[in-house]
Amino acid sequence: MNKRVHWIYGSGLIGSYLGAVLGQTYQVQFIGRDTWNQRLSAGISLEDYSGASATFKASASQLHTTRPARLDHAVIWLTVKCTAIESTLLDLQGKVGHSCTIICCQNGIGTVEKVKAAFPECNVLHAVVGFNVVWDEANTVLLRATEGVLAIEIGQSESTAAGWLTSPDTSLLPVHWPKDMQAYCWAKLQLNLANAVNALADIPIKQMLLDKYFRQIIAALMDELLAVATAKGFELPQLTKVPAVWVPRLLRLPNWLFTRIASKMLDIDEHARSSMWWDIQAGKPTEISYLNGAVVEGAKQHGLPCTANKNITRLVEKVSVDDTNGKRALEMSPQALKSVILG
Ligand SMILES: NC(=O)c1ccc[n+]([C@@H]2O[C@H](COP(=O)([O-])OP(=O)(O)OC[C@H]3O[C@@H](n4cnc5c(N)ncnc54)[C@H](OP(=O)(O)O)[C@@H]3O)[C@@H](O)[C@H]2O)c1
Repeated sequence: MNKRVHWIYGSGLIGSYLGAVLGQTYQVQFIGRDTWNQRLSAGISLEDYSGASATFKASASQLHTTRPARLDHAVIWLTVKCTAIESTLLDLQGKVGHSCTIICCQNGIGTVEKVKAAFPECNVLHAVVGFNVVWDEANTVLLRATEGVLAIEIGQSESTAAGWLTSPDTSLLPVHWPKDMQAYCWAKLQLNLANAVNALADIPIKQMLLDKYFRQIIAALMDELLAVATAKGFELPQLTKVPAVWVPRLLRLPNWLFTRIASKMLDIDEHARSSMWWDIQAGKPTEISYLNGAVVEGAKQHGLPCTANKNITRLVEKVSVDDTNGKRALEMSPQALKSVILG
């Protein structure tokens, strides 16, 4: 067993999944809310869409609701949402030794820079979680519901060869070390831009993708991101069956052709919704400023137009704070939403 202890800070869906997989090989400690600590202490199963599985049960000594007084020589996986990164940094400031490696697992753009600035002496790495994890309460299963890998920045001072993380020998967590991490993050961001559309559409993702107006909105959001990525000189890696630039073209196909050619995109659970939709319904802050908001920021830096991402960011912020009789949705037709967002 590797001597370094892996600390999961913010063990929700991603943190509990990563921790439970890592716990098969390494020493793992969890800092999480009571609900998740209770689940991990009772024992959970891990499954993936391809049929791989494992079980995990944490002992009481592995579960915490607050961080320890000091963390040294540890691998710290930050798995809180982007919206909790500032409070996390405040909590960790002065408590983390220089020997620690910190891995930031947030979606979107902007959190890793904040962590690097807060811990300049530590080895801070960005990780992109390329798969979705869902919790099945009835069967106490954490399910890796989609394809995709855990992509981790190679970093300067350490590498896989240093042995702190050899790819766990399991299909439950395939690990990839991209050469250009920034380009990789923007390629993932392109796919995450649809989260906001789903949050406003207020219907399952599959149903959203079957509507040409919603697809046209997503395509417009992606076009703006692709222009920013080009201006930044990124060559986006291919994370889907087709190259990044083709995805908006596919989305703009008429229904009869889209359902034939892009059937793989529709290969998703009938009930699945984006985490942004869940955040809005729970009255929690969303990650919008790190997702579509990051495209707006990037466009501003390069003097590019960015109407669609600007408008959708504003709408999501509006819905997040409005709460009419507990219902947080716009209640607009897809066509009306398209004309509001595309301007
Ligand atoms: N879920 C997915 O399938 C998926 C896929 C790819 C990427 N991601 C990205 O991964 C990141 C994590 O997402 P997630 O879905 O795992 O979020 P999540 O389920 O909300 O997990 C984060 C957990 O951290 C907890 N937390 C926050 N501050 C804490 C603190 N000081 N001490 C202890 N616990 C704390 C949160 O509790 P409270 O809610 O009570 O604050 C929550 O339980 C996000 O950036 C997300 O976009 C998620």
